[in-house]
Amino acid sequence: MQVLIVCHSDYQHTQSVADAIAAGAIAALQDAGEAEKIFVKQAADVNLDDMQVADVLIFGTPVHMGSMAWQMKQLIDKGSKLWMPNALQGKIGGVFATYGGFGGAGGGVEQTLMSLHANFLEQGMLVCGFPRSLSGYADAGIHWGLAVRTGNDEGMPEGVSQAALVAARAYGAHVVETALKFKS
Ligand SMILES: Cc1cc2nc3c(=O)[nH]c(=O)nc-3n(C[C@H](O)[C@H](O)[C@H](O)COP(=O)(O)O)c2cc1C
Repeated sequence: MQVLIVCHSDYQHTQSVADAIAAGAIAALQDAGEAEKIFVKQAADVNLDDMQVADVLIFGTPVHMGSMAWQMKQLIDKGSKLWMPNALQGKIGGVFATYGGFGGAGGGVEQTLMSLHANFLEQGMLVCGFPRSLSGYADAGIHWGLAVRTGNDEGMPEGVSQAALVAARAYGAHVVETALKFKS
């Protein structure tokens, strides 16, 4: 099973979450006795072949002005070439975002996660939310996916908490376990 984790990250918050998701995905594949083929890439480095050969696609972004970073949207628009031949149909998807969250209102993270879902659904994929039974749900789980707040109450960058990294590992494992169930 091949897993492709893609994000854009300017200041490494989203990248560190992507790495934790990868760790969870690796653990799930090891538990299942499957070969580990996990790739973590920045959006700008991903080509259409990378997406086509993956069984699982997990896309993440920082929230930028209430929506995804343009680098992720650019990749999604490039992926429209895969829509006509149904090349991504039936693959399993997962989504994550980091956000400053000043004011505690979420800063647009829910609509950002939903817009990542929308792309996967348009491509005919099956998408995974973040079930409340997973570790870290109260810290970084939203039913749409993984949402990691990185800002503090003064509106300044704080970093990615250990609790959020626990949630990220749980989410990576969950998406892979779902894909393994679907495959069998
Ligand atoms: C251009 C820009 C716009 C941002 N807009 C928002 C926003 O609308 N809502 C929010 O909660 N955080 C916003 N943030 C904060 C980032 O989402 C947050 O710091 C994120 O964790 C950065 O991820 P990175 O380190 O991977 O780049 C913005 C940051 C930048 C640089």
